[in-house]
Amino acid sequence: MASKQLTEIKNKEFFNELSKTWDSTNTASTSVLFNNLLINEGDKVLDVACGTGVLTKGIYSRCKCKVTGIDISDEMLKRAVINNEGVDVEYINESFYNYSSDGYDVIIIYNAFPHFIDLDAFKEAVYRNLKSGGKFIICHSLSREDLNRHHSPLTKDISRDLIEIEKEADFFKDLFIIDTAKEDDQSFVILGHKK
Ligand SMILES: C[S@@+](CC[C@H](N)C(=O)[O-])C[C@H]1O[C@@H](n2cnc3c(N)ncnc32)[C@H](O)[C@@H]1O
Repeated sequence: MASKQLTEIKNKEFFNELSKTWDSTNTASTSVLFNNLLINEGDKVLDVACGTGVLTKGIYSRCKCKVTGIDISDEMLKRAVINNEGVDVEYINESFYNYSSDGYDVIIIYNAFPHFIDLDAFKEAVYRNLKSGGKFIICHSLSREDLNRHHSPLTKDISRDLIEIEKEADFFKDLFIIDTAKEDDQSFVILGHKK
């Protein structure tokens, strides 16, 4: 397995370059996320690997309070700032693996999970940054097969193939209750909460 540090460097380089075309080529619909996730007014929400901020306005319209996005790519975040001018949001340029906070009600990982190669460090970061009872959602607007095909040209330092959703979900069960684990030809969703 590639080291955590190597995958951080490779992801940053890769997405800094991809940031130039991300918004003009990304056609993903965010409805699969918001149809599966209830965000309440006042919820403190963290958008992990937020990229150019495609979710920021949708989250803000639901929680009606400051949104936080974190991403390792400074170039993706520069675009997020421009795309979300006027929205109450804080963008943090840091690897999620290393991030610590006071705790969130909701943590979202949207169209980004396969880029976290070090699953133990990822799970610990979700746990560390959620309040007790807080929810997390891992969500894709593509089927697992399409996603793995989409990532197949990338090296194993940048992303990994997802396996059956039950096995992906099982990995979180020592620290979280899994409420939903479902996939179909257009989505992949794991929703859970902190024990
Ligand atoms: C496929 S993009 C998705 C961006 C955004 N969620 C969207 O749907 O448009 C994956 C994102 O993961 C970010 N990323 C990769 N590794 C990361 C890490 N260790 N910490 C934080 N962000 C990371 C990349 O910089 C990139 O912006």
